[in-house]
Amino acid sequence: MPVKTCVFDAYGTLFDVAAAAREAAAEPGRESFADHWPRVANDWRLKQLQYTWLRAITGAHTDFWQVTKDGLDWALEASGLGDPELRERLLQLYWELSAYPEVPGMLKTLKQLQFETAILSNGSPQMLSGAVESAGLVDLLDDVLSVESVGIFKPNHRVYQLVIDRFDCTPDEVLFVSSNGWDAAGAAGFGFQTVWVNRAQEPVDRLPWTPHHILSDLTDIPERAQS
Ligand code: LAC
Repeated sequence: MPVKTCVFDAYGTLFDVAAAAREAAAEPGRESFADHWPRVANDWRLKQLQYTWLRAITGAHTDFWQVTKDGLDWALEASGLGDPELRERLLQLYWELSAYPEVPGMLKTLKQLQFETAILSNGSPQMLSGAVESAGLVDLLDDVLSVESVGIFKPNHRVYQLVIDRFDCTPDEVLFVSSNGWDAAGAAGFGFQTVWVNRAQEPVDRLPWTPHHILSDLTDIPERAQS
C-alpha cells in the first residue's frame, strides 16, 4: 500500500538526546564536566531505555519523565558526579532538546506532499509538547501521540496501535521512522513500513523483525515515503 502517514519516534530520532549533556558541558563554569559528558550522555540514555523495557515487562509503568530522572541519577553516580545543580541543569535541558538540523525542512516537504505527520513516543505529553514547541515543529505535525494514552512503553503493540486508531489507516500505510533499532524492528513486527535512522552506523539488532530501510539521517524520508 502507498504510504499515507509518516510517524516519527521523538527522542534520538527528531531530537538529539546527547544535546543536554553536550550543551551543559559547554556552559561557563562547567569545565570539569567536559571530560565526563559523553559517558554520562551514553549511560543516561541506556539506563533510561532499559528502565522502560523493564517496567513494561513487569507491568510497573511510570511515565517517561520518571525513568529519565532515574536513568540520569544512575549515570551521574556511575561517573562519581554528585552536584545537584548539574543534575537540575541536565534535566532542564532535556525539556528543550535541539532537533537535528534536517528535521524542519524534511517535515515541511512531507506536508507539502500531503502526507499526514505525527510523533509516536515514550515521552509524556508534557515533555513532548515542550520539545516540539522549543524546536518550532508545532505546525508541521498533525498530532503528537504519547504512550501515556495506553500506559505501557514501546515496543508493546498497543503503542503502535495508537497510530491506526488516530489516523484510521492500515499498518502498511504507515511509514514509521526511528533511530532506535529495537523500535524500528518492533514497529516492523507490528506491520508498519519502517525506516531505521542509523546515524552511528551500528549493527542491526538481532531480533525476529528487521527494519525495511536503513538511512543515515532524515533527509531522504520524503523520497522514501513516495516510493
Ligand atoms: C521515544 C524514545 C524511544 O521517543 O526515544 O519513544
